[in-house]
Amino acid sequence: MKTPHLVALAAAALCAGTAHAQDAGQLNVICSVQAEWCNMIQTVFAKTTGIKVNMSLKGSGEALAQLVAEKANPKTDVWFGGTGDPHLQAAEMGLSIEHKSPTLPQLFPWAQAQAAQSGYKTVGIYSGPLGFGYNPELLAKKKLAVPKSWADLLKPEYKGEIQVANPASSGTAYTMVATLVQLMGEDKAFEYMKGLHKNVSQYTRSGTGPIKAVARGETAVSISFVHDGPGEKMQGFPVETITPSEGTGAEIGSMSIIKGARNLEQAKKFYEWALTPQAQQFGAAAKQFQLPSNKATPIDPRVPDFKSIKFINYDYAKYGASAERKRLIAKWEKDVNSLPR
Ligand code: F6P
Repeated sequence: MKTPHLVALAAAALCAGTAHAQDAGQLNVICSVQAEWCNMIQTVFAKTTGIKVNMSLKGSGEALAQLVAEKANPKTDVWFGGTGDPHLQAAEMGLSIEHKSPTLPQLFPWAQAQAAQSGYKTVGIYSGPLGFGYNPELLAKKKLAVPKSWADLLKPEYKGEIQVANPASSGTAYTMVATLVQLMGEDKAFEYMKGLHKNVSQYTRSGTGPIKAVARGETAVSISFVHDGPGEKMQGFPVETITPSEGTGAEIGSMSIIKGARNLEQAKKFYEWALTPQAQQFGAAAKQFQLPSNKATPIDPRVPDFKSIKFINYDYAKYGASAERKRLIAKWEKDVNSLPR
């Protein structure tokens, strides 16, 4: 008598579980942080809500290109992470929808400002400063000094030793372009990038490619977000980071709900969850050390100390504007990337 009863209970639980999973539905996310963090949120969100998450990993520029391509027939519900400029561009292009989270007042002012200037079509989920990654062992072996400024990177001894991403595919690299234009003025910044071009061995597709190459001793120096250094170091690689003495920019990593999302209810659930301190802790748990946007999220000691860094007053609205971003990337392709080295 006992056994059938237990079997029936187990079967009922299983059915209920299945029904729950089916009812809860699914969610299609483009994820523009590193794979470990994407995988972690995919698993935890699915476990806590029963919502199946289909993840597609894409750099910031590539994610925007995909959203433009699928505009008439959107397949994406949420775009999680990636630099803020292309999220602002997506908002302006009508690719994302307004969603004013009740959690907004719990976020740092920079994350709220990102939401406000997009008409609440995106929101800041993390921030991180742009700087350089370097391999101290490789620099010592090559008898090269640690570069401390943007000016240092132009020195002839760094020829072939620097990697940075391509600003068309990478938000990290676009942040560099926009930072230099704001720091030096457009003409000087493009002269600077032409000089830098001579020392760059490779423009990678992904923004984190160069610091991974530094960590593995494939190149001595990278232009990278400094929060991407500690994760490599934790894997035992010799990598350090520094921010340039003249000043630098920072990204406001963002999140948007896509217009025409087929799973809107699930998208809103994910969005609200991703703004909670509980969910934001998964960044550091996945060895990614951006500054989380919710003021109540514990800050890992490996998160860069913003107070010790000289920042420019980055104009997010101007450099996230569609026409400006397109113009600067096209100009970089034409005036810089096409030059011989
Ligand atoms: O995931 C690490 C990271 O540096 C994020 O902080 C940033 O938003 C993203 O990569 C940018 O990636 P990409 O330069 O490839 O667009």
